[in-house]
Amino acid sequence: MPIKEIKENVFMVGATDWDIRDFHGYSTERGTTYNAFLVKDEKVALFDTVKYHFKDDLVYHISQVVDPIEVDYIIVNHVEMDHSGCLPEIIELCKPEKIICSKMGHKALLDHFHREDWPYEIVKSGDSISLGSKTVSFVETKMLHWPDSMVSYIPEDKLLISNDAFGQHFATSAVFADEVSQCEIVKQAEKYYANILMPLSHLVQNVLATITDLGLDIDMIAPDHGLIWRTNKDDISSVGPGTILGLYDLWSKQEKGNKALVIYDSMWESTARLAKAIGGELIRQGIDVKMMNLGVNHRSDIITEVMGAKAVLFGSPTLNNGMLPSMADFLCYLKGLKPKGLVGAAFGSFGWSGEAVRQINKVLEEMKIELVDPGLRVKYVPSDQDYEKCRELAAKVVKAMNCD
Ligand code: FEO
Repeated sequence: MPIKEIKENVFMVGATDWDIRDFHGYSTERGTTYNAFLVKDEKVALFDTVKYHFKDDLVYHISQVVDPIEVDYIIVNHVEMDHSGCLPEIIELCKPEKIICSKMGHKALLDHFHREDWPYEIVKSGDSISLGSKTVSFVETKMLHWPDSMVSYIPEDKLLISNDAFGQHFATSAVFADEVSQCEIVKQAEKYYANILMPLSHLVQNVLATITDLGLDIDMIAPDHGLIWRTNKDDISSVGPGTILGLYDLWSKQEKGNKALVIYDSMWESTARLAKAIGGELIRQGIDVKMMNLGVNHRSDIITEVMGAKAVLFGSPTLNNGMLPSMADFLCYLKGLKPKGLVGAAFGSFGWSGEAVRQINKVLEEMKIELVDPGLRVKYVPSDQDYEKCRELAAKVVKAMNCD
């Protein structure tokens, strides 16, 4: 891909991964990018690198701007391998004077690459370095989303290089968020937030407060994945830094709306019938319902819908004395993302033992999801009485949703 100068003498030199469809369990239907940034000043600084297999792209792109040996500083905002996989080769090629990272970044680099001999310089929040005409200030963002994470701010350009934060898994030939469909960019940013940052929402609020407290004047946010959020002065209604900062504030507050998810899978349609009966009654009672069949919806897309939902219902028949593998997979993934403030219930059909509902309840209790009902268990195929129980369950859900 051609390189792009996003600010004067600030170049995107990373790589585009058009093919990736699974990012450690997250479905990346639009691929992704591994963004790296090169600032050419009296000192030349490279911000992050790329996934190992994209090293040649990075080297080629750097070479469009400078001879790689001219890179003075490599700034490691984040050590996860999609941004550091080719770091040893790039260090070997560039022989940088300094590798700048946070204290936890230093530890993580040692644990990844076992190289005590690299020229590390450890920085902390409030530190800055001069590149000549430009300055780079650092703000640690511990646990957002790794212990090593930090962001870099160039005040002369009003540019925040934000590592994973504010990113999207979105491969496109466009560079800026305002150059693509507003719906698509927000959808991808929301999916990214839900699947990576949701459990860290309280820390997101802290970082937003820090940005405010420091009075950072930002007119461009350059994340390590996806498109760049710029202030487009020719179209002030387009998405930009204010948009994504506002959305992060909204998403991290984890406020709940009038929305319920019915997440289910089925063997012989009995549990699907229960799901539809419960969902139908919720709709009749004025709830915004999303029916999420695990057989056709990817776990990471369902997680995106969990954002903003108040109620989540889980349906699985019993198979081999347990829940269906698709439900076990989803609950495992959901539990790791630590959703907050949900009410819920389980339901499912069974033939003779019927453990699935009890097992789902146990996981929901571990997640501190408030159970509105002990769970609806139906033998084989639902009867008229069972459909009445579905309506009763839906009524309990509505009551719990309205309790706050
Ligand atoms: Fe894009 Fe946390 O790595």
